[in-house]
Amino acid sequence: MPRVIYNTATSLDGFIATTDHSLQWLFDVPGAEDAESAFPAFLDGIGALVLGSSTYDWVYREQDLGAHPETWNTYYGDRSTWVFTTRDLPIARPTIQLRRGAVADAWPEIAASAGDRDVWVVGGGDLVGQFADAGLLDEIRVSIAPVTLGAGQPLLPRTLLADRLSLVSAERAGSFAELRFAVAPVADPSRG
Ligand SMILES: NC(=O)c1ccc[n+]([C@@H]2O[C@H](COP(=O)([O-])OP(=O)(O)OC[C@H]3O[C@@H](n4cnc5c(N)ncnc54)[C@H](OP(=O)(O)O)[C@@H]3O)[C@@H](O)[C@H]2O)c1
Repeated sequence: MPRVIYNTATSLDGFIATTDHSLQWLFDVPGAEDAESAFPAFLDGIGALVLGSSTYDWVYREQDLGAHPETWNTYYGDRSTWVFTTRDLPIARPTIQLRRGAVADAWPEIAASAGDRDVWVVGGGDLVGQFADAGLLDEIRVSIAPVTLGAGQPLLPRTLLADRLSLVSAERAGSFAELRFAVAPVADPSRG
């Protein structure tokens, strides 16, 4: 069974985009490109992507996928991609599929599409929370930018206490702090 990993950049105060879905604050961090150096190795281990519709909208807009759909593959390759939405969104590549409803219902197909690699839930935060609610989230990797936004799209709008999250590693990547947390599916009564 593939593992489900949420890997994202976040502001120090826990937002992954501004209220109006801008990521300029992230690209403006000095050395942001260097912090991306571990990304290709991460992507090598990923067999399927899962996105919410705002995240897909952002990529579609920023990469001008309407005019240049092939640009999708430059970044994400030909991995199976699942976009959760209730809308009839434009599909840039044949590897992209739209889904709606409970993530647990879509999980068997998502898992099968990942093959022997892992699933990257790209965001947003509530969709990741839906995976956590379903006991399907295994790991959170956050690159914390030296930025506070005060408001915006939340990193993970759920209550996950220390019985479910444990720190695996903490490293520095340029201006960013990279933290990895393992996510336990259910509370462990032995930890009191
Ligand atoms: N900092 C980073 O590295 C990073 C990483 C990822 C994302 N982002 C940004 O963060 C923002 C995230 O936006 P967001 O918080 O709005 O989250 P999102 O998950 O991208 O989009 C949320 C929308 O997805 C659809 N959706 C979610 N779950 C669904 C389900 N189970 N069934 C059907 N539809 C479902 C709903 O819209 P509809 O039904 O109306 O389509 C919902 O309003 C974006 O701006 C993105 O670009 C930043």
